[in-house]
Amino acid sequence: MGLFGNAQKKTKAVAAAGLPARLHHTAYVTRDMEATRKFYEDVIGLPLMSTFCESDELFGAVRTYMHTFFGLADGSALAFFQFADPADQELFGPKMPFSPFHHIALNVDKATQDAIEARLKAAGYKEPEHFILEHGYCRSVYATDPNGMIVEFCNDDEAAVKDQEKWREKAHSELRRWLAGDHTSNNTYRSDHAH
Ligand SMILES: [Fe+2]
Repeated sequence: MGLFGNAQKKTKAVAAAGLPARLHHTAYVTRDMEATRKFYEDVIGLPLMSTFCESDELFGAVRTYMHTFFGLADGSALAFFQFADPADQELFGPKMPFSPFHHIALNVDKATQDAIEARLKAAGYKEPEHFILEHGYCRSVYATDPNGMIVEFCNDDEAAVKDQEKWREKAHSELRRWLAGDHTSNNTYRSDHAH
């Protein structure tokens, strides 16, 4: 069980029909599929699971594109599109606005995180494309992909995982407290750990 515990244990705010089982895929547009493949497959280590080559009518015109999927351990994937027509590429793949706060984060164990970090270093990644943050509740390795998308690899802190029930109990009250103007930090793990 990870940092966010057992979400299946429902509160009244969660509909009775159940939760989505897991991430199926995320999807982004790339201008350079081979650079994207190299990053995700050769450096990060996510295997290319499928490449769908398509021509179909979408959003008012025939679009010709490829759609790739890079696999994660639970069967989910990170997916990318590239279009054959430069006009489609412009229309559907505008440059991502830069913000390190927009990112995708993947859970990793310590050994996997170490291996990814070593491959990033070996491939020449360094700040600002690659950096590390100690959040207290997890240690995170960040890397920017060839599309400008930031990918985070999180290794959860054991103490935070153990406390997940406590965090869930106060998740709504902490949200209300912050929005009401009390911005006092509640991340107790930062001071507990001298990383
Ligand atoms: Fe994050």
